[in-house]
Amino acid sequence: MGDSAAGLEARASLPKVGRPAHRVIAVDGSAASGKSTIGRRLAEKLGYPFLDTGLMYRAVTLASRERGVDTNDDTALTRLAEFIRMEVGPAAPHSGETCSISIDGKDVTSQLRRPDVEDAVSLVSRVPGVREALVRQQREIAGRQAMVMAGRDIGTVVLPDADLKVYLDASIGERARRRHAEFSNRGRTVTELIVLEDLRRRDQIDSERPISPLRAADDAIVIETDGLSQDEVLTRVIQLADGVR
Ligand code: DC
Repeated sequence: MGDSAAGLEARASLPKVGRPAHRVIAVDGSAASGKSTIGRRLAEKLGYPFLDTGLMYRAVTLASRERGVDTNDDTALTRLAEFIRMEVGPAAPHSGETCSISIDGKDVTSQLRRPDVEDAVSLVSRVPGVREALVRQQREIAGRQAMVMAGRDIGTVVLPDADLKVYLDASIGERARRRHAEFSNRGRTVTELIVLEDLRRRDQIDSERPISPLRAADDAIVIETDGLSQDEVLTRVIQLADGVR
């Protein structure tokens, strides 16, 4: 996180939730809603570090695959999330990523969007112990510095006292179009229909899980982004950020 912000490491105690002394901004939304791109650009504009928490769930998923941990074994997944040494930093220039992540000293960022990770991440992020371990780390990071944090539960669970909570939404058709274009840019060939079906599956798992389901916080500002360009959404979010401390 920023050059000065040290990486993060799992710690034993859960820091208290409370209003931090510095400004923190939560950007939540469903898969392919644009939250990571908008969050990163907002952070850039404000000169804040940006944390894309989806990449942290992806990193635990990657580690589970590399170590042969079963995605149905909640206990083993929880232990993995608690004990791997995960460090988050700014994205490498021109990587097209929003953050970089290393596990036990090895940069794994380029592996985090692998199809097998994409397929399993919703299952791994359902596990309560995994969420607890990652939420603890996310709160520690936000406790140290002003920042923009993007995810699914930032406004509801991770930073309930955030200075600004934005929730981005778009129809599933629009999100499928965006995700398909993103995959094409990365050279991944898959039809838009398959992307749409996968988004529908992930939406269902993310919003029906019993712990921290995907939903807008009661005090979040919801922006429906269908028909809006990325720049238009960003302008709106910057205006909102300008309006809070
Ligand atoms: O935003 P993304 O597609 O990179 O997120 C990957 C997965 O992580 C997604 O299936 C939901 C999960 N996730 C979560 O449960 N909570 C967060 N704060 C961020 C992501």
